[in-house]
Amino acid sequence: MYQFNRAEYEKRMEWYTQARFGMFIHWGLYAIPARGEWVRSQERIPKEDYMRYFEEFNPVDYDPKKWARAAKNAGMKYMVLTAKHHDGFCLFDSKYTDFKSTNTKCGRDLVGEYVEAARAEGLKVGFYYSLLDWYHDDYPHYGDMNHPMRDNPAYGNENRNFDRYLEYLHNQVRELCTNYGKIDILWFDFSYGEGENAMRGETWRATELVDMVRTLQPGVIIDNRLEVSGEGFGSLWEGNPTPYHGDFASPEQIIPPDGLQDKNGNDLIWEACVTMNNNWGYCETDKFFKPSSMLIKKLVECVSKGGNLLLNVGPDAKGNIPPESLSILADIGGWMEKNSDSIYGCGKANLKKPDVGRITRKGNKLYWHIFENTVGCMPLMGLRREEVDCIRWLATGAEAPIAKSWIYDNYPDIVFADLGANPVLPDPVDTVLEITLKE
Ligand code: GLC
Repeated sequence: MYQFNRAEYEKRMEWYTQARFGMFIHWGLYAIPARGEWVRSQERIPKEDYMRYFEEFNPVDYDPKKWARAAKNAGMKYMVLTAKHHDGFCLFDSKYTDFKSTNTKCGRDLVGEYVEAARAEGLKVGFYYSLLDWYHDDYPHYGDMNHPMRDNPAYGNENRNFDRYLEYLHNQVRELCTNYGKIDILWFDFSYGEGENAMRGETWRATELVDMVRTLQPGVIIDNRLEVSGEGFGSLWEGNPTPYHGDFASPEQIIPPDGLQDKNGNDLIWEACVTMNNNWGYCETDKFFKPSSMLIKKLVECVSKGGNLLLNVGPDAKGNIPPESLSILADIGGWMEKNSDSIYGCGKANLKKPDVGRITRKGNKLYWHIFENTVGCMPLMGLRREEVDCIRWLATGAEAPIAKSWIYDNYPDIVFADLGANPVLPDPVDTVLEITLKE
């Protein structure tokens, strides 16, 4: 019987909750049609038609050192690359398939180069691995919920051997956990369906899979999608962890309004995965990028609610991260350069959210994220004067004195920070005060 060891779990998660910010990378053959990573499924593209992209794939500009540098300079601490997405194309030299990057014109083990580049920048290494596989003949086709041929009775499942597919899946995960050194995150995606045909948990032979993974990579962190998808939270949330429980919940394209707690009200470790535009994989027409000012505030929001942000880039068919994404990453990096103390290792402050922004906390340090100024001095609601040791502008270390004026005499129970005469805050996006509480 599986015994969840909370002390071991919390030790394993330490670097991750310290890191708070990572890069998701969705890249593969689907960058050529450039209509997102679900293009084969959404457009019901038969395998033989999709193979033209395999014949063509030649990312001449691929340089993962550039990707890793962009992530590092943005203040990200880990990267998660799609080693295999739902289309089944492997960006690594797997001996179990020919449908892999080393058999394309580029002839390169794209994952191997990515791992080296990430490590060279001191970043933690993550692999996304799709449980679904629309290329493998033994994966259910007709009648499946997602397969490109799900509506076509000519693709019946009579001769498909799902156990053989599971062997393939487990063998490839073993390759990823064996051939690339220390792996820090395994991001499986995704479980689906209900009842006896549900593609979840032991349907994937999940206990055996996770036992193998944890034997090969003892410190690895695993997401919750052997159990759920972006929908649902998993058995850790249920308070009844399975042997293959996710180490973190993975809300997708949403920041949980009130953070995430398990059924018993205990804080859950979670990571919001978010696209910069509206697509994970490269989409030529999707120019709806979230402004960097918005994404800085979303990073702060995640941390203020006790979570991580995994922010996605979708490189194009040549291997370039889109310029819009690079610009956003550079802007976030500029803010992080001065304010990362208010992100790394921070979490919920357990104080009422201020009108003007958000609060993150690390030990006896509170970080007041000010998105807009007030009239007069800044009320620091929830703090008592006697508990405040000092207030500093985080970016410069300069003192922000506690206000002393008749104006505030009516509010003796509220601490007001004097932000000076200039009503325009130093940082137009998020000006951070560091408040040190008396120990
Ligand atoms: C969903 C999408 C998948 C994407 C994932 C990222 O599961 O189906 O394409 O990789 O979200 O969280």
